[in-house]
Amino acid sequence: MENNNLLELKQKALQEIEQASSSDALNAVRNTYLSKKSELSSLTSKIGTLPPEERKSFGAALTEVRVAITSAIEEKAAFLKNKELDERLSKETIDISLPGHSYNLGGRNPFYVIRDEMIQIFLGMGFEVADGPEVETDLYNFELLNIPKDHPARDMQDTFYINENELLRTHTSPVQARTMEAKKGAPVRIICPGKTYRRDDDDATHSHQFSQIEGLVIDKGINIGHLKATLELFAKKMFGEKREIRLRSSYFPFTEPSVEVDITCANCGGKGCNMCKGTGYIEILGGGMVHPNVLKMNGYDPEEYSGFAFGIGIERVAILRYGIDDIRKFYQNDIRFLKQFKKMS
Ligand code: PHE
Repeated sequence: MENNNLLELKQKALQEIEQASSSDALNAVRNTYLSKKSELSSLTSKIGTLPPEERKSFGAALTEVRVAITSAIEEKAAFLKNKELDERLSKETIDISLPGHSYNLGGRNPFYVIRDEMIQIFLGMGFEVADGPEVETDLYNFELLNIPKDHPARDMQDTFYINENELLRTHTSPVQARTMEAKKGAPVRIICPGKTYRRDDDDATHSHQFSQIEGLVIDKGINIGHLKATLELFAKKMFGEKREIRLRSSYFPFTEPSVEVDITCANCGGKGCNMCKGTGYIEILGGGMVHPNVLKMNGYDPEEYSGFAFGIGIERVAILRYGIDDIRKFYQNDIRFLKQFKKMS
């Protein structure tokens, strides 16, 4: 009797599995026939009550039915899963004719465009990029650059002191001393782009924080012709082939002789106009031959080695290249200003 029941149960289950048309429906069938509360489970728990001679064959029959139902369900489940995925994929198509969201793509700040262009020009001449801290010690910012404690040149670079001995660097020149220390007497050819700080009143041409690119070359037989040729090439690459430079004598404690370098005014081509205050030239940087004291203090024999150094204001170059009228615009991030340079970056 029990075996007949079982056969019926199996057939009913297989039929329902066959008819289940979704994963949910199939789960319901699984629940009906295989859960702990199912008929199959309650029959299984009755095995113990049967006479011993029937137990074995009834147990085997139960197992056969359970295996048949389980494997039919698994097979159908895999089939339904595939079918449902296909249906979802065919329904969830993207309508590519709908207009998308537009994003406002930003541009690079012109300061960085010019800084990177300057770096590229010097890399092309074989310079390496060096780095140094913005919080500097008195030693590197002044002493090792031939500016002792009581030197009047310190006044021109009044800056922000952290304590007696530490300050925000007033120029990128301390990287000269740091590089010489690191190179231990070997030849040097570096540039160092970076931020500098001075207690300036902010106006159209001054900012308490601005940036420079320092340059330093040390080797045997370096002379001022090398300095001039390097800067001339830089000026032509940066401002165009027609630009000329001129060296004016100047003073820095760490270079001797020292020069201020001007380029011919782009606006008037050297004739003299408002932009160049009638002189035909605009100043772009300071430089000179490394002072023998600086070489000596930093481990180079001035009888054997000589060198040149320069410091270029990055904002100054960007202002000249783009005709920008106020240095503060680089830092304010006014979108109306930045937008004008989008195509250039
Ligand atoms: N450090 C100088 C300044 O900030 C510029 C400079 C650099 C001059 C290197 C000579 C050599 O004004």
